[in-house]
Amino acid sequence: MESIVEEIRQCTRCPLCATRNKVVPGEGPLNAKIIIIGEGPGEENDKTGRPFVGRGGQILDRFLMQVGLNREELYLTNIIKCRMPHNATPSKNIVEKCITFLDAQIKVISPKVIITLGLPAAKAILDNATLKLSDLKNRVFQRGNIKVICTYHPSSIRYNKNASQDIINSLMIAKGLSNEE
Ligand code: URA
Repeated sequence: MESIVEEIRQCTRCPLCATRNKVVPGEGPLNAKIIIIGEGPGEENDKTGRPFVGRGGQILDRFLMQVGLNREELYLTNIIKCRMPHNATPSKNIVEKCITFLDAQIKVISPKVIITLGLPAAKAILDNATLKLSDLKNRVFQRGNIKVICTYHPSSIRYNKNASQDIINSLMIAKGLSNEE
């Protein structure tokens, strides 16, 4: 993982290297059973170099607590490692350039379960551009021997009233899967 993180720090594969303050590679134990994957660093993440520490992170922490998942035991990262200006959705081109870092991180951690937050993360992991989260939620996908659960991004609770319950359900499913033998 150290060499992957170093490569991310040195990365100049896309224009975001010129506008980022800090790269946000991800954090958590390398033996985590669950990886949570968000869309990309926000303002607070770009300042600190840490994932999920801004408003979205606080909402995520609340959901994790509600289902009894301990943040310290999870690996948290994003499909892209640098902030998009104005928090725009990352283009396909940028995701394609960055995704090899995530693929390598998943290989190192070899989790039992991947949870994607938001549609861009679901598309990147399931490799399908025509997906809708409403069709994906409550389903368990398989990536090699890793189970994949796709849910809404915690920030979406501002405009989607039902997202909170959907996110909680997804986290519960993921927790159950991560404890299976
Ligand atoms: N923080 C992150 O690191 N990723 C997100 O998707 C949202 C907040």
